[in-house]
Amino acid sequence: MKLLVTGGAGYIGSVVVQQLLAEGHTVEVLDNLSTGHADSVLQGALWHQTELLKVGEILDSSFDAVVHLAARSLVGESVSHPERYWHGNIVATLALLDAMRDAGVRRLVFSSTAAVYGEPAGASIAETDPTMPTNPYGASKLAIDHMLTAEAQAHGLAAISLRYFNVAGASGELRERHDPETHLIPNLLKVAAGEKESASIFGTDYPTADGTAVRDYIHVLDLAEAHLRALQAAEPASHEIYNLGTGTGTSVRQVIDAVREVTGAEVPAVEEPRRAGDPAVLVASGARAQERLGWRPTREVPEMVADAWAALGHEVKTMSRTSQSPAAPSPGNRAPAAPTPAVESPAAPTPGGRG
Ligand SMILES: NC(=O)c1ccc[n+]([C@@H]2O[C@H](COP(=O)([O-])OP(=O)(O)OC[C@H]3O[C@@H](n4cnc5c(N)ncnc54)[C@H](O)[C@@H]3O)[C@@H](O)[C@H]2O)c1
Repeated sequence: MKLLVTGGAGYIGSVVVQQLLAEGHTVEVLDNLSTGHADSVLQGALWHQTELLKVGEILDSSFDAVVHLAARSLVGESVSHPERYWHGNIVATLALLDAMRDAGVRRLVFSSTAAVYGEPAGASIAETDPTMPTNPYGASKLAIDHMLTAEAQAHGLAAISLRYFNVAGASGELRERHDPETHLIPNLLKVAAGEKESASIFGTDYPTADGTAVRDYIHVLDLAEAHLRALQAAEPASHEIYNLGTGTGTSVRQVIDAVREVTGAEVPAVEEPRRAGDPAVLVASGARAQERLGWRPTREVPEMVADAWAALGHEVKTMSRTSQSPAAPSPGNRAPAAPTPAVESPAAPTPGGRG
């Protein structure tokens, strides 16, 4: 296939491009480098450094499909500057849909997010669960999901939305390089590397096995593979939605333990109060992706930490594959009601919050 990958200079997009090239596809990347990196655009992919709004200048009928990852994704920024999310995510994606319609490109895989679910009542989130985003970032992604459903019905688009949970890990040198970095694992690795003094644990009184928030971490390599399957599975005039996680929860303390083990560093952690809007447990039900895409993630948290640590040029000390199960959520775990609107990513118990 000939594919356009928007956001292909970003963390996840670069790994998707890597896998598409490895499978023999022809890949072109559209990225404005607002948060991406020129050296993440892999050799073998033609790169257009431009705005998504100008995608009409690139797309033509020679393309078979688009993988759409380009987006703004800072939850806090979306609260303070929602207009950036309506323009950068919704309006820019409408430009993409217009360009695809004009060029007759009728296949799309879209990066959605667990943030569309807001603060779910249940521990294991299915695609049929209610969507109630608690911030403009999640709302912008949900609006795009609705746009895709309508585009599929009205104009025959073959569309799949992939709702990622907490993405982590690296593929060779391709790793998270966000600024600000809001995700737990890269921030813990900064502490392990001596770049930061300590890590924060926000909330130690959640109704979870060890009192800290539980999330579903998914290795970027497993995640990227789901895109390849989705490209094959998309059916004309249909919009399917898939949650992408492992179906297993890992607590903040368990992630810290994994980082200590992999790096051999002490990683001091400071206990702080819960942040408003952070649910106790967010774990995907992987049933639909497994059934319909035949996709089953294989990598666990210690491997995500080890790959991210190695990508920074460090030596991995030890790595067990057992740190995930003890804090797996029980069906009774529920998120406490949030007294104020969330300003941090409900999908990421990390300082700042990126979706
Ligand atoms: N990282 C996660 O854990 C996570 C979780 C859920 C959803 N997502 C979604 O996955 C996608 C990729 O996330 P990421 O972590 O790789 O982020 P990233 O910031 O590393 O990558 C996004 C890329 O899109 C580009 N971009 C942004 N706006 C653009 C525009 N208007 N025109 C052209 N290029 C533009 C950026 O320069 C960057 O290279 C995003 O859509 C994000 O919302 C990520």
